[in-house]
Amino acid sequence: MPVRSEQAHSALVIDDAATQDFRVHRSVLVDPAILERERRAVFDVCWLYAGHESEIPQPGDFRTRSVAGRPILFSRDSQGRARVFLNTCRHRGATVCRESQGNARLYFCFYHGWSYNRDGELVGVPGADAYPAGFDKKAHGLAEPPRTESYRGFVFVNFDASAMPLDEYLAGAKEYIDLVLDQSPSGEMEIIRGTQDYDIKANWKLLVENSFDDYHLLTTHKTWLDYLRKSGVEMKPPEQGHLLPTHGVGKALGNGHAVIDNVNFRGRPVARWIPIYGEQAKPEIERLRAELVARLGEARAARVADTNRNLVIFPNLVINDGSSVTVRTFHPVSADLMRVRAWALGPRDETPAARAVRLDSFLTFYGPGGFATPDDVEALEAVQAGISATWREVPWSVMTRGIAKPGEQLNTDELHLRAFWKQWDRLMNGARPGP
Ligand code: FES
Repeated sequence: MPVRSEQAHSALVIDDAATQDFRVHRSVLVDPAILERERRAVFDVCWLYAGHESEIPQPGDFRTRSVAGRPILFSRDSQGRARVFLNTCRHRGATVCRESQGNARLYFCFYHGWSYNRDGELVGVPGADAYPAGFDKKAHGLAEPPRTESYRGFVFVNFDASAMPLDEYLAGAKEYIDLVLDQSPSGEMEIIRGTQDYDIKANWKLLVENSFDDYHLLTTHKTWLDYLRKSGVEMKPPEQGHLLPTHGVGKALGNGHAVIDNVNFRGRPVARWIPIYGEQAKPEIERLRAELVARLGEARAARVADTNRNLVIFPNLVINDGSSVTVRTFHPVSADLMRVRAWALGPRDETPAARAVRLDSFLTFYGPGGFATPDDVEALEAVQAGISATWREVPWSVMTRGIAKPGEQLNTDELHLRAFWKQWDRLMNGARPGP
């Protein structure tokens, strides 16, 4: 049932430094009218992840998916460039490519048979002689989003022609993408074949919060922590003031991007062995560590191997670089339903032994039957159900952890969550990304 937008014209986020108050109005998680505003104020002006270049290595390779409600064709053209087209026929609008992935010489529209080449040009029109003399095939190629740009293999689109360049938009997030990519000897990473697709009956912003909210780790993921402990993974008692057996901080990176940056205790296939990987994996992980040190020096190698990070690129791209690397994006279907798509990322030149450890870690924690995802989905759906039923009586969520603390903010504080919500609120009030 539609929710009346009682908050539509008043504050949805209260950010009061004087009283150290930070609250988010719960209507933003349930109100379809707010979702419609978000589609214009957030999704139509921000850089949105379309795909990774490694998914389409050869000319003609393609993937179809939906970005901000638009069907897109993410493909490699005849010149070897990664392109994004709107997957809608220039004749009367049918979806042109209806396969999820493949390689095509031509894209045929099944409705009346118009066809497009790998460069999106209209090359075939059945009964073309019935069109007037001025009909120009060149003017009827597949349309592209106003902007498509990439950063180190990650391809983004923007539906705002006047958006700031992607490089500028990414701001401090680039440092963390670089850190992820440094684990590859060639600096190149690839999406590993296979995709996790699932829906969560919750508002999309709840997954943003959850993706880098370490406050829930001890309780929601107790089973996983117990499994690590029982498997012989060393876990030190939390330092003074910490909740978790690791030192971790939360940081805002500009433009709403933010990260938690933790000392690793849970293993890294790239260079940090834990008993769960098995004795047979040890020599390969030691070799990887030596390669990192030789290539990057002791300090940078330690930064890459001995820390992990959960990065949110505003509004809806998550890169979790821990016991595996997960790339995850998600889009709202309705105010209380999101569609999630996730992939594993690994060094292009990884050995089969290292790849096996990586994929096992990926499935163990983030897989649909792993330790994390089912529990997170359960938590998010519980939040959505509770808020949907009670938001009028209990209208605010509190987000003040760490707000009174000078200096360093921990991974279990909420500075990084507040960074997301501040940017969301700015945009919803008419601002554009940028300083
Ligand atoms: S809608 Fe595609 S050919 Fe008519």
